[in-house]
Amino acid sequence: MSTCAASQKRARWVFNISTWQPTESQFLLASACIQEEEKVRIGKFVFRSDAKASLVGRLLMRKYVSSATGIPYSEVNFLRDEMGKPYVLNPLVNFNVSHHGDYVVLAGELASNKVGVDVMKFEYKTGKELKEFFSTMSRQFTPQEWGHIRGPIGTPASKQVVMFYRYWCLKESYLKAVGTGISVDLNRVAMMIQEQDLRVGTIVPNTQVCFDDKLLPSWHFEETLLDEDHCVAVAVSKSSDEDDVGHGWVSQTFQSLDINQLMEGSSPLLESDSCYTREFFKKCEKNTKPCTSASSLL
Ligand SMILES: CC(C)(COP(=O)(O)OP(=O)(O)OC[C@H]1O[C@@H](n2cnc3c(N)ncnc32)[C@H](O)[C@@H]1OP(=O)(O)O)[C@@H](O)C(=O)NCCC(=O)NCCS
Repeated sequence: MSTCAASQKRARWVFNISTWQPTESQFLLASACIQEEEKVRIGKFVFRSDAKASLVGRLLMRKYVSSATGIPYSEVNFLRDEMGKPYVLNPLVNFNVSHHGDYVVLAGELASNKVGVDVMKFEYKTGKELKEFFSTMSRQFTPQEWGHIRGPIGTPASKQVVMFYRYWCLKESYLKAVGTGISVDLNRVAMMIQEQDLRVGTIVPNTQVCFDDKLLPSWHFEETLLDEDHCVAVAVSKSSDEDDVGHGWVSQTFQSLDINQLMEGSSPLLESDSCYTREFFKKCEKNTKPCTSASSLL
């Protein structure tokens, strides 16, 4: 495959859900552009932000598969494997999505390459002190990784948190690419980070992975910051004819899509559903308590 054709099948997309407060008509259309079973699943989320994130993930997948393969938008049929990973039959491409914090991301690749992506917001949700939080996570990382996360004496907690989430994202991107997710112990996946700092707009491409102490040279990782509070990692298994030397692997930066770009080329699969839309706007956005005015939005 030529580098040009290959690059059209590769995608790194990001959508900022914190800045998208859907209008009624936007939500009516968006919720008609996903499969029925996903609509039902998303309808069960308690919080609006979770429903919105999952919905945007499905829309990114549909836009990507349709535009990269030429399959008409409303005819793309997503299935889930036994571990819950979405896929399409007879794939011409592979893809994966992730959502956390303010962002939903998609990574798309040639069918010959497995791909996984993970985005994380820097926070420790448990509310425990950092020491305690790290201690509950102790079994998930190797001693070398913990050494790097904690850093030399005097390393600020903020730096330790960033490094923790970098390792977490890298491991999860790999396990999402292979499809097991974190049903596999995270400490079997040992990441070797060589670049100390991540920056917005710059890809760190030289991290390596060992699984059960065996180096996996065909795996390629791309890490970056989406902003100062979010890191993202993409794991790709490169096929043998696409090594760094031969066809020149080009890491892609994330392209930001707004709602118009997300819905461009869309066509509904389902009837528009005003009842479903009303229920969506009744949900509380996360962390809003008490929820008093939501139902007045429609
Ligand atoms: C899959 C898993 C890694 C998701 O982690 P997470 O940090 O909560 O979520 P992310 O935002 O990064 O990714 C979620 C998306 O990944 C995709 N996904 C789901 N399962 C997946 C899997 N096994 N492998 C790769 N991707 C998966 C979906 O698109 C999902 O979006 P959705 O929840 O809106 O459908 C995690 O749930 C896990 O490891 N589960 C273990 C596998 C398992 O037990 N599955 C249940 C059997 S059905």
